[in-house]
Amino acid sequence: MEDASGLIARQYESWAYPPPFPDIKARLDTGYVQMGDPALYSAALWPEGRPRDRLRILVAGCGTVQAAVLAYTNPHCEVTGVDLSEASLAHERFLQDRHGLSNLRLYCGDLRDVAKIGRDFDFIISTGVLHHMTNPGAGLRALSETLAPNGVFVGMVYAATRRTGVYMIQDALRRMGVAADAAGVAFTREVLASLPQGHFVHRYLEVAGELQHDAALVDTFLNPQDRAYTVPQVFDFIESNGLAFQHWVEPSWYYPEGALAPGSALAERLLQLPLRDQWAAVEMLTASIATHVFMARPAALDPSIYLLDFNSDEAMGYAPLCAPGIQRTGPSHYQRGSIQMQLGPAEQALFENANGRRTLADLLSHPQLARLRDRDAFGRAVTAHLWKLGHLMVSKAPKHRS
Ligand SMILES: C[S@@+](CC[C@H](N)C(=O)[O-])C[C@H]1O[C@@H](n2cnc3c(N)ncnc32)[C@H](O)[C@@H]1O
Repeated sequence: MEDASGLIARQYESWAYPPPFPDIKARLDTGYVQMGDPALYSAALWPEGRPRDRLRILVAGCGTVQAAVLAYTNPHCEVTGVDLSEASLAHERFLQDRHGLSNLRLYCGDLRDVAKIGRDFDFIISTGVLHHMTNPGAGLRALSETLAPNGVFVGMVYAATRRTGVYMIQDALRRMGVAADAAGVAFTREVLASLPQGHFVHRYLEVAGELQHDAALVDTFLNPQDRAYTVPQVFDFIESNGLAFQHWVEPSWYYPEGALAPGSALAERLLQLPLRDQWAAVEMLTASIATHVFMARPAALDPSIYLLDFNSDEAMGYAPLCAPGIQRTGPSHYQRGSIQMQLGPAEQALFENANGRRTLADLLSHPQLARLRDRDAFGRAVTAHLWKLGHLMVSKAPKHRS
């Protein structure tokens, strides 16, 4: 009998995912960003300072485009893409040829065999992959064993709450024997169109714009194998497989200050809890998280190297940096993706000058902040707050002093 990994291989052979695009530059010009791309997010990935310019990057379960995109956006890095699906790799090769990506190596195979490549990696990304494995822990362990001692792992796994309805539909379709073929896709579309208004799956459909593509519909509803995680299950997954949790790639989804009405009684009450309980409770209260995207480090690495402590003496030497994608939309208004923010004049003076070269102490010496009472406390609180909202990345090592 065919095992689940055989079924997964067949599915992605027939329905290569994500829906491919023909030109990386044209796609990037539309604002497309790869989650955790070191070209943009190094300060968040390595708060202690990026270990080297020429990163060795592994894209585990790269699908149709991810490895080529990272090779394109990180031309000085060596990028390795691995996938079970030859059909997906064929598109990665197409993009490689089109853009002359000589820094990209592609391998067809199982990510559990990644050690056979015979090297370790500074940055490993595996998004939308491990939750399809029969034993996701074995997959994560194999990857963590090839992570360099100061490397970063970025993972994305499905989140349980918002996908509740997805599993209900999967269950019903499976019982009816609906296959992942053209007829099955058409039938699934009919089913989705016929559901009652209050069906749980609508909560997911609100954020699943790509379902117009048949490969995305199959990936979501006709997948032979996937599972989802709650926040505590994410920690358990990471910590049972050789890694330690660093932070969320999009922290605003998890902190009460970002995910709940600011200053509300509920937010205030949650803020009394230990951080992990805050995040777990926010997930349950909002039911708005569809995927968990996290950064993790080797368990053996001393966490004080990469964890930030805004109350420490060291914090005045931190170098904040505006996160990619921030747009100013008004005199004191900003937007990052769908997240809006308004800043007061003093906060704005700090935020606008946060360029990764100035330390927090430098930023607080700005003339506009000179007369603030308790300037240090203000600086620490604003920086921590904007970091929790994902609007600031915070490096422990300023790039060059200004
Ligand atoms: C949902 S796609 C995600 C692709 C890509 N990571 C992205 O985010 O765009 C999942 C991919 O993982 C691959 N995959 C699943 N299990 C795998 C395994 N054990 N080893 C290597 N690739 C695997 C599939 O073939 C498929 O291309």
